Amino acid sequence: MPIYHTLGKIPAKRHTVFRKPDGGLYAEELVSTHGFSSTYSLVYHCHPPTLVKQISEPYAVQPKVAREKHLKHTSLKGFNIAPADDFLDSRKPVLVNNDLHISLAAPRHSMTGYFYKNSQADEIVFVHEGSGVLKTGYGQIRFEYGDYLLIPRGVIYQLHFDTPDNRLFIVESFSPVRTPKRYRNEHGQLMEHAPFCERDMKLPRDLETHDEQGDFKIVIKKEGLMYPYTYGTHPFDFVGWDGYHFPWGFSIHNFEPITGRLHQPPPVHQTFETDHFVLCSFCPRMYDYHPQSIPAPYNHSNVDSDEVLYYVDGDFMSRKSVERGQITLHPGGIPHGPHPGTVEKSIGQTKTDELAVMIDPFRPLMLTEEALEIEDRDYYKSWQID
Ligand SMILES: [Fe+2]
Repeated sequence: MPIYHTLGKIPAKRHTVFRKPDGGLYAEELVSTHGFSSTYSLVYHCHPPTLVKQISEPYAVQPKVAREKHLKHTSLKGFNIAPADDFLDSRKPVLVNNDLHISLAAPRHSMTGYFYKNSQADEIVFVHEGSGVLKTGYGQIRFEYGDYLLIPRGVIYQLHFDTPDNRLFIVESFSPVRTPKRYRNEHGQLMEHAPFCERDMKLPRDLETHDEQGDFKIVIKKEGLMYPYTYGTHPFDFVGWDGYHFPWGFSIHNFEPITGRLHQPPPVHQTFETDHFVLCSFCPRMYDYHPQSIPAPYNHSNVDSDEVLYYVDGDFMSRKSVERGQITLHPGGIPHGPHPGTVEKSIGQTKTDELAVMIDPFRPLMLTEEALEIEDRDYYKSWQID
């Protein structure tokens, strides 16, 4: 997260005496990544964050891979994932490899009885339906339809929903999630040609200090297991913090599309990058304005990466019969392209209202048991002429 942010009270100098009104010391914690070599924050707790009261038996949440190797265009009906009351129960991994897990979730209830920490993956939570508040020790972020919530590994959080009707598209990335390097200058600032800027970021605000002791359940995810910990102090007992490691949000509706006279390639839609995949936002935009331009995409051989599209809203110009919440996976190794008739139909059109999230992983994705349950098995035949 290449921006500095601070909330609450912090001492003038790091690693110095910082006292509470009663004369006791606040507990300083360095939250660092990649050893001490990447982004970090300094957090000041009312109590040391180390008071473990109990560790209960861990339980497995490792995705159950059902189709490890394949070479078939695949479509999943994402909204057929059944809602579940609990947030963690509701998360259903559908496409996975060792670099990322893509899950769908339709949680009905807010997280009130426990807190959650993913200790080894950054999470991108895309809010397709629903609204509410992301609560963390770093502050709160109000979210709504179209928001990406970026929750770096190690951040303890709760999601509080306004209603039971929520649809989330969640990516766990085992390498850090960043804004694209080519859009950042040598100081880390997003440059003028970037499709969004720091002003568009939803930073945590309204820090609430919970100076509370008791029993606080934190479910910690590591290596495919969930470890239920009971701590003796409230995890949101920050009195202040500063640094670069914290959750933030960004609305897909604030992504400013880059357009041209001729068809622009997918990298113009890039929003985030990691060492192992990129994430792009396809947003409503004006079409190409060369008088002979073909707005529909060309056929494409993605020789060495898979392509995942998650359809959010609007008409998708190159596809027939696309539903909200649908996922398509076009694997590397075979070409894919517009559906029959869509190229001709696109000529002369001036704009699109499509909204979609694309992920290009650099290594093949596997399908889980949950994915096969919502698969449209005949999708690969959908390019046949009727
Ligand atoms: Fe493609």
